Amino acid sequence: MTDQAATSSATANIGVVGLAVMGSNLARNLASREGNTVAIFNRSAEKTEHLVAEHPEAGFVATFSYEEFAASLTAPRTAIIMVKAGAGTDAVIDELLRVFEPGDIIVDGGNALFTDTIRREKAVRETGINFVGMGVSGGEEGALLGPSLMPGGSDESWITLGPILKTIAAVAEGEPCVTHIGHDGAGHFVKMVHNGIEYADMQVIAEAYDLIRHATGYSPAQIADVFAEWNRGELESYLIEITAEVLRQVDSDTGLPLVDVVLDQAGAKGTGGWTAQTAIDLGVPASGIAEAVFARSLSSHPEQRATAGILPGPDADAESSFADDPAAFIEKVRRALYASKIVAYSQGFDIIRAGAAHYGWNIDLGNVAAIWRGGCIIRARFLNRITEAYADTADLPVLMTAPFFVDALATAQDAWRDVVAHAAATGLPAPVFSSSLAYYDGLRARRLPAALIQGQRDFFGAHTYKRVDRDGTFHTLWSGDRSEVEAVDTH
Ligand SMILES: NC(=O)c1ccc[n+]([C@@H]2O[C@H](COP(=O)([O-])OP(=O)(O)OC[C@H]3O[C@@H](n4cnc5c(N)ncnc54)[C@H](OP(=O)(O)O)[C@@H]3O)[C@@H](O)[C@H]2O)c1
Repeated sequence: MTDQAATSSATANIGVVGLAVMGSNLARNLASREGNTVAIFNRSAEKTEHLVAEHPEAGFVATFSYEEFAASLTAPRTAIIMVKAGAGTDAVIDELLRVFEPGDIIVDGGNALFTDTIRREKAVRETGINFVGMGVSGGEEGALLGPSLMPGGSDESWITLGPILKTIAAVAEGEPCVTHIGHDGAGHFVKMVHNGIEYADMQVIAEAYDLIRHATGYSPAQIADVFAEWNRGELESYLIEITAEVLRQVDSDTGLPLVDVVLDQAGAKGTGGWTAQTAIDLGVPASGIAEAVFARSLSSHPEQRATAGILPGPDADAESSFADDPAAFIEKVRRALYASKIVAYSQGFDIIRAGAAHYGWNIDLGNVAAIWRGGCIIRARFLNRITEAYADTADLPVLMTAPFFVDALATAQDAWRDVVAHAAATGLPAPVFSSSLAYYDGLRARRLPAALIQGQRDFFGAHTYKRVDRDGTFHTLWSGDRSEVEAVDTH
């Protein structure tokens, strides 16, 4: 224990446990706001000592044991945990439960799986201590300057936490990017879906770049200009903005565009996969998000890709079919990108709606879109349109059927179809452009071949079917005389 720690007493109104990149930045953000005194603790003392030494202006109360940490906090004690999600989170919660008292608040700001948060909230609540799972978006810079915050947990915790969180959150159009999402795991659930949408958004941008590059022969720097231009219109967003920056970057070693020297195998930390799995569990067809996750997986199997090079098909690198008239093709890609993006958000909000119904959360979907306007990775101009759509119709069954999006899709859809057809014809993979279009057409179809699937299921498994012309459940005696009988519904 240091001298500094020994003199600490209950002077801090908020504490942070876990002082790696996210925790240290969040602690600095908290300390920079009027009225906050921040206690800090990290398992290994070096990080605490380093942070205090580097940022004397923050006035941190440095602590070196959980007892000291608890003693430094005023009641109700409020601690934000920013440690490696999983076993690390459970370990810290166990320690805090030892030293905290009923009425205190433990906030987990890590990327926890929402079902873990539901489990933890239930267990911690039994001790009389409040547990809040909170999604934090915006990465390192967001944590320092203003993240988008998605807290779950009890209404009681929100009374204490809300005013503090409002001071550190990003601000979009004058409003803090934080709202009480819903009880127990609701905050981490919404953060997970945010990340799932992020996967889809990044993938459609990557597909747009790839299509433009191959079809027009433009260099990455020229495509950077295209994205910079797009960022002045309806596609304006953080991800479009940084795409232009990345495409413009030149590798200092080789003088080549950085994007050409980076290995084309995309990493993932799991939240996109969780979103896709959760969508499947809830029966939500979030195909664009799932395809984006699979596109990263596909990229990361070099051994399969090397072997599959022998498979026949058009040579995507053969020619630049729109080299003579790039502008028209680029505009089509812009429209296809916008349409695919609308589908990704529509699917994401569909997952949140289904999750809220399943887990009993009262989530205001318009507010979710509003708090994503600042601080987070998917911040974008058109989130305002989502807020408006839910303000008009709170229980809108499909987001993209809101009038604004219907108009946008009407304008975009011909180009979208052309671009998907071009990708297929020239052998360029555009999995999210094409699966989003298939989803769009599937939803609007008057009749789907699902009827045939029901017939097949009834044939091999007597799974029964419904009819369009009368109530009841039916089965055809496929191995008998093929007459139809009434049956018990077995789905
Ligand atoms: N990086 C991002 O952009 C981002 C964005 C949003 C959310 N998050 C989430 O924020 C959390 C923190 O992320 P990060 O990148 O700053 O850190 P991290 O690398 O995920 O975790 C390192 C921190 O966890 C602590 N830790 C690990 N196991 C522990 C245990 N058993 N007991 C106590 N402490 C333990 C480490 O302490 P020691 O120093 O003692 O090892 C260190 O402070 C994670 O859940 C992450 O998923 C990250």
